[in-house]
Amino acid sequence: MSHDLFEAAKAAMSKAYAPYSKFRVGAALRTEDGRVFAGANVEIASYPEGWCAETTALGHYIMGGGGKIVEIAVLAERMAKCSPCGGCRQRLAEFCRPETKLYLCDNAGVAETVTMGEMLPYGFRGDILK
Ligand code: THU
Repeated sequence: MSHDLFEAAKAAMSKAYAPYSKFRVGAALRTEDGRVFAGANVEIASYPEGWCAETTALGHYIMGGGGKIVEIAVLAERMAKCSPCGGCRQRLAEFCRPETKLYLCDNAGVAETVTMGEMLPYGFRGDILK
């Protein structure tokens, strides 16, 4: 992973709105043509209404024109190798291939690299809906 993706996730993490859990998360993704989109988690006083950093990044990615996602970095302030929740795995998988790399980071950089296929085997496939 080039350092800019990690830096984008880190910068996003610093913008997290997490006053309830104090668990700040940043995510950044890169498209095939090199664009980078990042996001932070957003918490709401009505707890189930909050959403994850990965989901914020996906919103920016769609508004920035979408495309094929080739790599993703996730970083949490208080946890090394923060792994995307089940819902975010399904959301990310919508725009990735099984071989898309996902970098689970710590404060220094990549701590572990996995693929989306490993993260979400047997995820729901929407092909039949198209
Ligand atoms: N969270 C993320 O933003 N991404 C993850 O991959 C795991 C969890 C957020 C949601 C919530 O704001 C906080 O972390 C604690 O669950």
